[in-house]
Amino acid sequence: MLVRRARLSKTSASRWRAGSGAPRCGRGREGGSACGGGPSGCGKSTLLNLLGLLEPLDAGEIWLDDVCVSRLSRRAQCRVRGRSIGYIFQSFLLIAGLTALENVLLAAHYVGRPRPAALAEAGRLMDRLGVVHRADHYPAQLSGGEQQRVAYCRAVLNAPPLVLADEPTGNLDDGPRRGDPGRAARALPERGTSVILVTHRADAAARADRVLRLREGRLESQGGDGHS
Ligand SMILES: Nc1ncnc2c1ncn2[C@@H]1O[C@H](COP(=O)(O)OP(=O)(O)OP(=O)(O)O)[C@@H](O)[C@H]1O
Ligand SMILES: [Mg+2]
Repeated sequence: MLVRRARLSKTSASRWRAGSGAPRCGRGREGGSACGGGPSGCGKSTLLNLLGLLEPLDAGEIWLDDVCVSRLSRRAQCRVRGRSIGYIFQSFLLIAGLTALENVLLAAHYVGRPRPAALAEAGRLMDRLGVVHRADHYPAQLSGGEQQRVAYCRAVLNAPPLVLADEPTGNLDDGPRRGDPGRAARALPERGTSVILVTHRADAAARADRVLRLREGRLESQGGDGHS
């Protein structure tokens, strides 16, 4: 999936200011990966929220393939989000009253996917990420790293063409390599998924097709095709 954005701005409170801080036009590659970094508070999560259609833009446009999704109604944006975008949130955002497995299956529920196929895929994913033994546990009974792995499974359950990952390795640091959602997310482009990943880890950035850096609200490209 191609992701393009043009002069986005978000002006509320301390966030990007129109004009001074708006990212310029840019273009992503199908099945490619872009990795973004920058100091805490510079707007990385805000940018992913805008690209994920979770927050309204104050100005600018977002295009997914040849559709200007930022101009769609909220309802149509919800459909695009359900079908096309998997989001691994920095704070996981698992639903406290649902078990790990039920949280993963939510992704299928939102798009009306038949339960048996979704259940089989959820089991495979949770096994691969090393959390299948936690399937019946509630988020409060899981470690931060386990919650993050469950959040990864939910984000990719429907094999969305675009995955947005906000610090997907944040809670594992130098932990086990098997089941690291950051590694798993970085491998997604091999099967044609576009990934936009925010991380402080230099090793993740080194493997991305493009590296972007947010500085005082402006996106700067380091390497790649020169666009940002
Ligand atoms: N809902 C909001 N309303 C107003 N300001 C906000 C809101 N959410 C975040 N901010 C502010 O916008 C700025 C960017 O926040 P954001 O969460 O995008 O940063 P970040 O780069 O992801 O930081 P971190 O690396 O700590 O996760 C911060 O100064 C934050 O306080
Ligand atoms: Mg953040």
